[in-house]
Amino acid sequence: MKEKKVYIYTIGCQMNVYDSEQIENLLQPVNYSKTDSLEHADLIIVNTCSIRAKAEEKAFSFLGRASQIKNKNHQLIIGIGGCVAQQEGEKIFKRVPQVDIVFGTRAIGRLPKHVTEIEKNRERIVDIDMSVSLEDDLYPITDYQTGTDISKFVTIMRGCDNFCTYCVVPYVRGRETSRVPEAIISEIENLVSNGIKEVTLLGQNVNSYGKKEGWCSFPDLLSKVNDIDGLKRIRFATSHPKDLSDELIQAIASLDKLVKHIHLPVQSGSDRILKKMNRHYTKEIYIDKVNRLKKAVPNVEITTDMIVGFPGESKDDFEETIHLMKTVQFDGLFAFKYSDRPDAPAESFMPKVYEAEKKDRLKIILDLQETITRSKHQEEIGKIKEILVEGYSKHSETKSTEPSTGKKVQWTGRTSGITIVNFIDDSKPGQENEKLTGQMVKIKIEKAFSHSLWGKKNTNGYTI
Ligand code: SAH
Ligand code: SF4
Ligand code: F3S
Repeated sequence: MKEKKVYIYTIGCQMNVYDSEQIENLLQPVNYSKTDSLEHADLIIVNTCSIRAKAEEKAFSFLGRASQIKNKNHQLIIGIGGCVAQQEGEKIFKRVPQVDIVFGTRAIGRLPKHVTEIEKNRERIVDIDMSVSLEDDLYPITDYQTGTDISKFVTIMRGCDNFCTYCVVPYVRGRETSRVPEAIISEIENLVSNGIKEVTLLGQNVNSYGKKEGWCSFPDLLSKVNDIDGLKRIRFATSHPKDLSDELIQAIASLDKLVKHIHLPVQSGSDRILKKMNRHYTKEIYIDKVNRLKKAVPNVEITTDMIVGFPGESKDDFEETIHLMKTVQFDGLFAFKYSDRPDAPAESFMPKVYEAEKKDRLKIILDLQETITRSKHQEEIGKIKEILVEGYSKHSETKSTEPSTGKKVQWTGRTSGITIVNFIDDSKPGQENEKLTGQMVKIKIEKAFSHSLWGKKNTNGYTI
């Protein structure tokens, strides 16, 4: 049978990256292998995100490109999956008639069957059924080919029950459901036996992992993952501030493989806006949790998400956000202009903040964060940091490991927080360098930039 090609385009969060890998894996038995060329694809899949209007537009603009190719090649199959597919269902066919399959966030396991059916009779399929159980829909990757990756995402739960008023996730991902711990552990063990050194455990609200099902708690799961031989680092995302427990803080403090970093989205510094957002905490409660974290875990790195221009956000509310940022001194910020979403209650909240005002507020907090990060980075100069090496840096003068080139090989990796460190290794010229990827090394920081640090590997070449 002729091997067919699938092109997968992924928009959105880490969970979509994980889902796209599942899709790639699941399509192999029905004879599809991945291609990076749109023009040579027999099947084009776009895995979509609906979190803000811009992400949705990106999906439709990509579908526009895919449709042009289909106009020339009628055999091409186009599928749209993910959160926009879940939300829009068959309405997508009206907007883009070239689409063959619309599959929702819990239909990934059924995609191969749908593709085979389309190949036979060319009749459009919509599958946005959300009733499937999680284990039926997630297929641990068993014959994983690592290539050069050292890090992978592992979804531990799906859906969200929090219903923040601006957010579409509870509608497009359904109710919170956790995977059984054994399935997660065996998936990670398998990744590790194939060369993976770091995993990021994913969920919209990892703190409520297993609660409904009566599995173990999230900190217990972390401790089980920590026991996996050969795994070097564990990350996780995302943690809702209202559910950040002392047990989790203790886990961050004590588990050796768990990074000293937490992504703790605050969204706003104004109690009035937090209430309208349905976040279930105040600025004071948030700051108190941060202080407890900082006390229990010295040098913990804290990053956050912020929304500016939520309906009704006044200048005073915005000032509260700035005050919170100055108080907490985040290590990183993901900031967004509020975007109306269908289904989310805030769509009907008034008054809306003008687009120009949102843009100004966004710039103000991004600039403030840049100043904070730069000064934090400056303080790192002279310190020795433990880095998990991810591979060649994009600034590397050469990718060659031949000692004769005379050019400097520059490496990249991350601290036990989120900071990117680029470095050179004078100690082991030539072929030996190849082995650095996936290793923990100690780097002396010599320069600080706004988005990264730069340093040198000790000439003794000590690795940990
Ligand atoms: N589950 C995570 C967030 C997932 S969505 C949590 O609760 O922390 C990622 C981020 O997108 C959110 O933290 C929020 O900052 C942003 N976001 C969500 N809906 C949005 C909207 N309608 N407009 C702008 N930003 C939004
Ligand atoms: Fe959205 Fe809130 Fe759930 Fe996060 S916790 S996914 S922001 S509803
Ligand atoms: Fe987007 Fe869906 Fe993730 S809306 S952020 S892809 S859960």
